[in-house]
Amino acid sequence: MNPEDLKDAFNKSDEFQRAISNPIVKSISQGLSSLEGEKWAKHRKIINPAFHLEKLKGMLPTFYQSCSEMINKWESLVFKEGSCEMDVWPYLENLTSDVISRAAFGSSYEEGRRIFQLLREEAKFYTIAARSVYIPGWRFLPTKHNKRMKEIHKEVRGLLKGVINKREDAIKAGEAAKGDLLGILMESNFREIQEHGNNKNAGMSIEDVIGECKLFYFAGQETTSVLLVWTLVLLSQNQDWQARAREEVLQVFGTNIPTYDQLSHLKVVTMILLEVLRLYPAVVELPRTTYKKTQLGKFSLPAGVEVSLHIMLAHHDKELWGEDAKEFKPERFSEGVSKATKNQFTYFPFGAGPRICIGQNFAMLEAKLALSLILQHFTFELSPSYAHAPSVTITLHPQFGAHFILHKR
Ligand code: HEM
Repeated sequence: MNPEDLKDAFNKSDEFQRAISNPIVKSISQGLSSLEGEKWAKHRKIINPAFHLEKLKGMLPTFYQSCSEMINKWESLVFKEGSCEMDVWPYLENLTSDVISRAAFGSSYEEGRRIFQLLREEAKFYTIAARSVYIPGWRFLPTKHNKRMKEIHKEVRGLLKGVINKREDAIKAGEAAKGDLLGILMESNFREIQEHGNNKNAGMSIEDVIGECKLFYFAGQETTSVLLVWTLVLLSQNQDWQARAREEVLQVFGTNIPTYDQLSHLKVVTMILLEVLRLYPAVVELPRTTYKKTQLGKFSLPAGVEVSLHIMLAHHDKELWGEDAKEFKPERFSEGVSKATKNQFTYFPFGAGPRICIGQNFAMLEAKLALSLILQHFTFELSPSYAHAPSVTITLHPQFGAHFILHKR
């Protein structure tokens, strides 16, 4: 809990490595988040360009397409009576899943949709595995779950390989790469391989690219839907902030489709999202393991010690944040994060150090756009059937869904 120790552990990412002890979870965790050392650095360098602001700007129309589909569905439900009671959670899950499918595979949307449907099913097994105590050898038994996981893995691999091969042929034939995550990643990979001549270890293999695509889905989907759901919950409990956010949205772009620059100018909306990520961080804690004797502040840790970098505890600590630490007060962030934290290392919803979330700008842009469109079209309040039950599986999600009453604005 000591901010300096936390910062140190994040920065020494070679000494405090990610720890996944459950072999089932390990077998599905792929890509950047499961790599260490040189291989991690190589992948991160190749993937980074896919998340540059310029590229994200280009993805905004794609984000808009998915968001407006959700808004249209809600409008048709609210249309008859002028208001409607509904569980918005499945819609938000669907939204972020659709956004990531389009952003990752835009130009191969149909294949992308099928891949993500399968990954979604796989994620359910992943959640069950993450919650369970692992019995050695269990994953090799021909149980219904294990068989289905194998089938999914095979189909996803086949589909991804098909898409990747097609894209690879196009790049080799001199066609411009597509502007989706997969296209940018493949172009960057191609450049890396060319720069290093015929070095066998240069760039990423097809298997590596498959792993990274799967990770985009696992890392980027549920995290963003929980950010949105807790934002709607807190803006229902704090109607004054809901009104302030709507006022800002209407003032900056009225009822028009927002541009990237307009979204960047939303100050109140940004303060709200930062405060939601403080109170309800999508990822609650980050486990790390030492692999050799390591000094952390006053602690001397032997190899094999598991350390928890606890986001939620740090975000809720009264000593660090003051007596009102558990209250929703977006005004804390009115002058930015460093003023809110008094320059202490007490706020890290996206992690920190070299392994900080690669998709944080992607997620914030998506959340700002979705929230703005919701505020443009509806006012909302919690339904009497809403049961507040934040529950941690992989992310901090609403255990019994999120029942709201939506009114047409
Ligand atoms: C509100 C949304 C999000 C939150 C709160 C979040 C949170 C995090 C956190 C805490 C980490 C650090 C994990 C660690 O250090 O062990 C992380 C890493 C990562 N995130 Fe996110 N994330 C979000 C959205 C996204 C999106 C949209 C994507 C991709 C499309 C993404 C991709 C990744 C990747 C690839 C990593 C691993 C980075 C590395 O190891 O180098 N995340 N995220």
